[in-house]
Amino acid sequence: MGRFEPKILAFCCSYCSYAAADLAGAMRLQYPGNIKIIKVPCTGKVDLIHLLLAFEQGADGIMVAGCLEGNCHFLSGNLRARQRVNRVMAILDRIGLEGDRLAMFNLSAGMGARFAEMAREMYAQVLKLGPSPINIARETAARPIVEVAA
Ligand code: FES
Repeated sequence: MGRFEPKILAFCCSYCSYAAADLAGAMRLQYPGNIKIIKVPCTGKVDLIHLLLAFEQGADGIMVAGCLEGNCHFLSGNLRARQRVNRVMAILDRIGLEGDRLAMFNLSAGMGARFAEMAREMYAQVLKLGPSPINIARETAARPIVEVAA
């Protein structure tokens, strides 16, 4: 079995946090390349089902990154997103998937360095947790059964 490389999704709102991610890139700040950014109009568009489906389809960790509280371009999208993230974290804990695989962050467009730091923190956290139990179960089920000749 190879070295575990976490698959991490980052739902970034198209205003502040996507701009922060862009700035991190423009500043050539280092953060793990296996964090895949999904641009959304606002974190308020990220629903419970999106987060749960992403885990079901193979994500080991998910970040939801929105504008600073009080600065959401759709007024309260980031507040609703935080409530949903908290609910999904509770669900993940209850079903044995570890709620710490999910995190919400708030950024302004000028916080490129913070975006890179947050991405490194999330990567380290998911690396410590190991592969998602869903991925472990999927890999185990796909492993061929080897028969030993008598
Ligand atoms: Fe950024 Fe709503 S527009 S979180």
